[in-house]
Amino acid sequence: MHAHATRHERPRARAVFSPLAALGLAACSGVQSALDPAGAEAERVAVLFWIMVGGGAAIWFAVVGMAVVAVRGRRHGREEQVARWFLLGGGVAFPVVALGVLLGWGLSTMSDLRAAEGQHRIAVAGEQWWWRVTYETPQGPVESANALVLPAGRAVALELSSPDVIHSFWIPPLGGKMDMIPGRTTRLVLEATKPGRYRGVCAEYCGVSHALMAFPVEVLAPADFEAWLADESEAAVPGDAVAEGAALFEAVGCGACHAVRGTAAAGTIGPDLTHVASRGALAAGTLPMTREAMERWIAEPAAIKPGALMPGFAALGPERIAAIASYLMALE
Ligand code: CUA
Repeated sequence: MHAHATRHERPRARAVFSPLAALGLAACSGVQSALDPAGAEAERVAVLFWIMVGGGAAIWFAVVGMAVVAVRGRRHGREEQVARWFLLGGGVAFPVVALGVLLGWGLSTMSDLRAAEGQHRIAVAGEQWWWRVTYETPQGPVESANALVLPAGRAVALELSSPDVIHSFWIPPLGGKMDMIPGRTTRLVLEATKPGRYRGVCAEYCGVSHALMAFPVEVLAPADFEAWLADESEAAVPGDAVAEGAALFEAVGCGACHAVRGTAAAGTIGPDLTHVASRGALAAGTLPMTREAMERWIAEPAAIKPGALMPGFAALGPERIAAIASYLMALE
């Protein structure tokens, strides 16, 4: 009986341990790690973090070492005098100096981080539960949603707002987080240093689907970014092959909430869908950008994102949903 039990316990212990180990390792790298910096601000935050960890560890070992010596060491005659020096030195002088230096350095880092001007302006509004993204271009604003594309090596000023509840905008590998507060616009200047793909999240509890509002971030070389932005500014060209889905999209009334530039759809309640298929993720980082996921989302969004304002269209039946999904997947 006992042998039987251990045979079953071992794999179970491994099963518990390996995800924990994977989590521990995954926290240090990847698309959403503040410890794998790819931005000017995130690099400083990571340096601050490692100095705090190193300093904290050194102080911890020193204190524990002294405690061990105090407990195990041999007693000698000048205990009271030594104790007074330990209290003054370790209890007053050392913390004042260490914390004072850290505070001064931390404050100087902060002002450096947030003073910079951005060469590009992008407005991001936190909605329940998705992101409204508006790129400023010389030709006027270009609206997008649920994905962010940034140029590498250039400071970008993000103007953050929210129409209703507080969200917090955070792309851990690029920089610190900034609250999005109803009634005011907050500013975050980020400079991505490495082209690549990252992931941003909402870092402030904002309602039932708070954990379901993320966004892919793509950092491009400046010339690629300019080309991308010119492309993004264009109207959608879905092609004749998906005309049936386009007609259904209009007939069913999707355009009352969604805009698709170049078509009659001009709604502003939901995400702009002009180039939806190029965004790398669906439903604000919740689903992969695939046809199957698109069909699931159209059929029952509330089952995927509780509290989503979009009504489900399962009543249309699988064929018409498939036609609308084909149309949307052609909006690149
Ligand atoms: Cu938006 Cu949490």
